[in-house]
Amino acid sequence: IKHIGVFTSGGDSPGMNAVLYAIAKAAEANGIKATGIRKGYEGLIDGDFMSLETHQLQKLVHKGGTILKTARSKRFMELEGRKKALQTLKINNIDALIAIGGDGTFRGLLAFSEICDIPFIGIPGTIDNDISGTDYTLGFDSAVNTAIENIDKIRDTAESHNRVFVIELMGRDSGYIAIHSGLVVGADAILIPESGRDFIYLLDKVKSYDSEDAFLIVVSEGDEIGAELLASKINEVNSSVDLRITRLGHVQRGGNPSALDRMLGIRFGVAAVEQLLNGNKNKMVGLLNNELYLTPFEEVVKQHQVNDELQKLLELFGK
Ligand code: F6P
Repeated sequence: IKHIGVFTSGGDSPGMNAVLYAIAKAAEANGIKATGIRKGYEGLIDGDFMSLETHQLQKLVHKGGTILKTARSKRFMELEGRKKALQTLKINNIDALIAIGGDGTFRGLLAFSEICDIPFIGIPGTIDNDISGTDYTLGFDSAVNTAIENIDKIRDTAESHNRVFVIELMGRDSGYIAIHSGLVVGADAILIPESGRDFIYLLDKVKSYDSEDAFLIVVSEGDEIGAELLASKINEVNSSVDLRITRLGHVQRGGNPSALDRMLGIRFGVAAVEQLLNGNKNKMVGLLNNELYLTPFEEVVKQHQVNDELQKLLELFGK
């Protein structure tokens, strides 16, 4: 392998710049050229490249977002777009690819592998933590830290006014951000899509709420009830509550990566280069029980389920 192309794809997540630094550093140490591909699969199709300089990236390890920019490419979903991307790789003599992204990114790589024999290594980069083959995706820990910092602030005002707050967190179809955040802020209820429980228990609890304290409900955006409907149901059972909705939104995606995410970025980046040099292809580098682990893309795209231990904690604290 002489020339690795690297891109970030899907939603950005804190720690992506740390990965880029680690890839550039490991490539440099092995005498390999590393080229950054801008805007995910879009840049792969269009040949939108930039050089990855270790001395510049070194100063960006602490920064959120991705200097390569990112996108969700519709063109790459079509065979025509993938053929064009293959052509771009060949013309530029790129003989290996590292992609950092979420499940959409891995689905893209799977489809691309049908027409492209260049080896790919994937790195899980999404705040959602919804990927099999890793305990943590890059950015999840930072997103949870951002969420709890903000929910702690909401608690201050909620307690001052004796208000009920419905706080909606990101995660797409996964409740990981909501369950982790809800548990450590002492939420009164946590609603996540994976629990399979309805919200009736919550309405019972709110019915007897005496408006003498704060009442914090953390709901994952993927939960079928949704913040607005939940709020109106609460008002139906207890019209005396003073309720506000906060949708934390994209603030969860930004900000400096946590120590864990910076370290994950460094480990994943170096491992990805090493795995390409070892002759591995079409696998994702993950971390299971604090050990680096490789998972084939076919496995990666299967949904990451909230485990039994977390479900039990949800029963105990979130009810
Ligand atoms: O996958 C990351 C994520 O932030 C999800 O939690 C959220 O549902 C989605 O992306 C938001 O996407 P966009 O930035 O395109 O609005």
